[in-house]
Amino acid sequence: MSAQVEVQTFSFDSISQEAVAKAVALYPPGKQMSAVKALLDIAQRQMARLTGVAWVPQAAMDAIARHLGVAPIRVYENATFYTMFNTKPVGKYHLQVCTTTPCWLRGSDDIVNACRSATGIASFGQTSEDGLFTLTEVECLGACVNAPILQINDDYYEDLDAVRIEKLLDGLKTGGALPPAGSTIGRQTSAPIANQTTLLPANGQAE
Ligand code: FES
Repeated sequence: MSAQVEVQTFSFDSISQEAVAKAVALYPPGKQMSAVKALLDIAQRQMARLTGVAWVPQAAMDAIARHLGVAPIRVYENATFYTMFNTKPVGKYHLQVCTTTPCWLRGSDDIVNACRSATGIASFGQTSEDGLFTLTEVECLGACVNAPILQINDDYYEDLDAVRIEKLLDGLKTGGALPPAGSTIGRQTSAPIANQTTLLPANGQAE
């Protein structure tokens, strides 16, 4: 999917306007710039809701700058710094692979290769020919204890390996829905994979 999408104008719709008002009201007068990331997120979600593609066109950044009364560059620098904001259109499923050290030690290279082979995407930042997937490399997602982690849209898929990620992506390619988020090996939240190892009673046996 290489077609360049032009968006000339952007304005918050009624659903977004309500969310914007709430976000800006969290900050004292004169500090409304602090709501910039919330407004970028609201704009991206509006684009997803109305067009099916979650991204923030420059027209939306300019609208945010006008709303906050700041120079556009103050919004651009936030939108381009955080990988959670897409400054160009992405596929229906945005695959965000963490390759920071804990995930790397736990096999993130395998996850990257599995994503590439299942989607046909050659490099990070690209979208598959069918427009279904975009592959992005991200820094620590804050879920290292269940590494390696792949974020798909808003959800985390944890304790992954190549076989499980290929099965998950094959399901999406054939029109299936995203499976429940979380551990893919049935681990309860971040509990030990095997038996309880801490906070044991004096006899050393888990209850
Ligand atoms: S290093 Fe991957 S979630 Fe922290």
